[in-house]
Amino acid sequence: MRLTVIGTGYLGAVHAACMADIGHDVLGVDVDVEKITALAEGRPPFYEPGFDEVLTRALASGRLRFGTSLREAAVHGEVHFICVGTPQRAGSHAADLRYVDAVVDGLVPHLPASCLVVGKSTVPVGTTARLTARIAGLVPAGVRADVAWNPEFLREGFAVEDTLRPDRIVVGTVGRESDETLRRLYAPMLEAGVPYISTDPSTAELVKVAANSFLATKISFINAMAEVCDAAGADVVTLADALGHDTRIGRRFLNAGLGFGGGCLPKDIRAFTARAQELGVGPAVAFLAQVDEINERQRTRTVELARQLAGGDLTERRVTVLGATFKPNSDDVRDSPALAVAAALHREGADIRVHDPEGTENARRTHPELRCEADLLTACQGAELVLHLTEWGQYRELDPVKLALVVRKPVLVDARNALPHDEWRAAGWTVKALGRPAPADRPPAARAGKPLRATIASPAVEADHA
Ligand code: UDX
Repeated sequence: MRLTVIGTGYLGAVHAACMADIGHDVLGVDVDVEKITALAEGRPPFYEPGFDEVLTRALASGRLRFGTSLREAAVHGEVHFICVGTPQRAGSHAADLRYVDAVVDGLVPHLPASCLVVGKSTVPVGTTARLTARIAGLVPAGVRADVAWNPEFLREGFAVEDTLRPDRIVVGTVGRESDETLRRLYAPMLEAGVPYISTDPSTAELVKVAANSFLATKISFINAMAEVCDAAGADVVTLADALGHDTRIGRRFLNAGLGFGGGCLPKDIRAFTARAQELGVGPAVAFLAQVDEINERQRTRTVELARQLAGGDLTERRVTVLGATFKPNSDDVRDSPALAVAAALHREGADIRVHDPEGTENARRTHPELRCEADLLTACQGAELVLHLTEWGQYRELDPVKLALVVRKPVLVDARNALPHDEWRAAGWTVKALGRPAPADRPPAARAGKPLRATIASPAVEADHA
C-alpha cells in the first residue's frame, strides 16, 4: 500500500521505516529539513537501538523516501498517518493540537482521491470527531477522507521491536471500510498473531491515555511505598519483588526510585486530567494529580538526600551525576528526572559533572549551565558524592573498587535502585537509596536479612508489631 507518515520524530520515523520494512511504499514527511535530510541519507536523527539497521534496509529496498511537501504527501498516500507531536499547551496542562491541525489543513485541500487519514499521536478523547468536522470543510469536491485513530504504544529504547511486534494493535474507526484498510495494512502482524482490537475512535483515543495513566500510577504507587519504607526501615525492592509474584499485580513498572519522565507519561497524565475536566468528569481522574505530585517528590527527595550527605550545604561540593536521559537506551532528555535533579543541585551551588552514554549532546543543549563529561572516570574524578540517576547497563558494570580510588569520598546515592549495593559497600562506599534504608539504619529484624515471606509469617514478628 502507498502510505505517508507525517511527522518524523521518534514515533513517525520508526513507523515509516518499519512500514516500508513490512512491504509498504512509504513517504515520510516533516517540516524539519535537517531531520528529513538526515533520514534520507540513512542517518538516524536520534539514538534508538536497531533503528539504524531498519532505516538502512528500508531505504535500500526503495520503498522508503522522505520529503517536506504535504502536497506531495496528498498525492502519494492511500493512507496518511499523522505522527506529529502534541506537546503541553503553554500556560496550561491541556494538549496543544496545533501541529495536528496544521497537517490536516496542509494536506486535505490537495487530496486528489479518497483516502484514509489515521492519527497516531496521543490526543485528547474527541479529537477524531473534531478532525472529521474540520476535514469535511477542507476536502475537495468528490473526494472522501475518512478519519481513524490508531494509537502507538512504543517505548523509547524498544521502538523498533514495539512497532514490528506490538503487544496489540488498537484501531478506532467509523465504518467497515476503514477497518478493512487497516487490517490489510497490518496483515503481516495480524498473521503473526498480534491481537487486533477494533473499536470506535473515542475508545481508541482513550486506550492510549488510560494505558499511560495506569503505568504512571503503578510507578507512583511503588514510589509512595518507598517513602513509607524509608519511614519504617523497610526495603522497597523486596516489597516490589514480593508484590510482583502476584500475577494480578506483576513485577514490571514497580521499580521504585527517581520516578518517571520523558515526552509521554508526565505530559499525558496532565493532558488527560485537563480533558476530563472539560468533559465534566475531573473528579474521576483527580488521583492523577497525586500521581504527578508523588513523582515530582522523588526528585525533591533525591536532592534532599544529596544535601544531607553533603552535611546540609551543597555549595561548591563536587557532585557527579551518572545519567542525563529520562531512561536508559535513549538520548531523550525531555522532562528528564536526572537532569531536573542535576539542575537543582547546581542551583544550590554544587559543582556538577554529568555523564551519560548517549544524552550529553541533548543535555548540553537544554542545560548549558551543567558541565557534561564524555568520559566516565573524568566525570567521577574528585567527586565527594556520586548520584546514579539513570540506570544505564554500563553503570551496573562499574567496578566500585576502582571507582573508589578516583573519587574524593566514596559516597553513592542510587536513586534507581539498580546497582549491587552489597558490592559497593564491600568496596568501602556509603550507599543510600530511596526506599532502602542502609542495613545499619534498619530495625533489627530486617537487619538479620530474613526473607520477607518468613518475616511476615513469623508470629513473633507480628507480636512485635502488635
Ligand atoms: C511510555 C509508555 O511505556 C509507552 O507505551 C508509550 O507509548 C510512551 O510512553 P516511554 O516514555 O518510552 O514509554 O518510557 P517508559 O519505559 O514507559 O518509562 C517512562 C519513565 O518511567 C522513565 O523515566 C522510567 O525511568 C520510569 N520508570 C519506568 C520508573 O521509574 N519505574 C519503572 O518501574 C518503570
